[in-house]
Amino acid sequence: MNFQWYPGHMTKAKRQMQEDMKLIDLVIEIIDARIPMSSRNPDFDSLAKNKSRLILLNKADLADEACSEQWISYFKQKGFYIVKANAKSGNGLKKINSVVAKACKEKIERDRKRGILNRPVRAMVVGIPNVGKSTFINSYAGKACTKTGNRPGVTKGKQWIRLNKNLELLDTPGILWPKFEHQTIGQHLAFIGSMNDELLSKEELAYELIDLLNSLYPGLLAEHYGIEPSSTAPPEQLKEIALRRNCFLKGQEIHYEKAANLLFDDFRNGRLGKVTIERPQIMTEIPD
Ligand code: G4P
Repeated sequence: MNFQWYPGHMTKAKRQMQEDMKLIDLVIEIIDARIPMSSRNPDFDSLAKNKSRLILLNKADLADEACSEQWISYFKQKGFYIVKANAKSGNGLKKINSVVAKACKEKIERDRKRGILNRPVRAMVVGIPNVGKSTFINSYAGKACTKTGNRPGVTKGKQWIRLNKNLELLDTPGILWPKFEHQTIGQHLAFIGSMNDELLSKEELAYELIDLLNSLYPGLLAEHYGIEPSSTAPPEQLKEIALRRNCFLKGQEIHYEKAANLLFDDFRNGRLGKVTIERPQIMTEIPD
């Protein structure tokens, strides 16, 4: 399966982000706690060179807690500030103000020495599609925020969101990058719904997900769908899921695509339980 997806609007958005970077003190990068490696766009590292960096390990409510702790240590070791959150419920977001202050300590100090008081930290919120950028901004900013509208040096129409006197956010569109280093990245992005689904064979993708879940969480599918734990190949398991969940075409023919969609819906919404499909020790060993 070919997992590349880099439509023209993403190239345009990247160029705009490059331009806006000049106005920014801090980059808040939102990633998905179930695939913390593949949900990081490597372009952000070059775009955000010399900026303070904060990673928001979002959708932590859907991820395996022990794995999230491992990822937090991993990113801390790499020099990132990191906050674990559930942007939907707002859990974890309270910590952000103090982490932003820590991450931008030097800038705040520099401003103070120059006699500039009360200039807010300006943060750009970045992330690939579907990681929860809008949800984060809505939850974090809440009703208290004011959209500050156009500002000098900023393209007309751009919206800054003023959270408080200390912090302003700039929202950006979700972007991927032109070429994935290996197919696993595209596959994992497709699992969580960050790729355009319509370009992929859901059935084939479901086999890959079943295979991965069987190796990481043996027995999980059997327990959730009431299928045989001893089921063999992924196509056989998808068939069993279809039978259990009444996924039929006319004439009792099995509707594999419907079963695949059901599986993805359950996985993406956390109905299969807390699942992390990337582990620091495994992801850093993947060959090119
Ligand atoms: P984006 O701007 O980065 O593209 O992502 P967006 O905020 O639109 O979020 C994508 C989906 O992820 C939304 O679900 C949103 O509710 C969900 N989401 C965001 N953050 C979290 C989180 O921390 N935990 C969980 N469990 N879900 C999260 P949706 O199904 O597209 O919309 P809705 O039905 O929730 O409204």
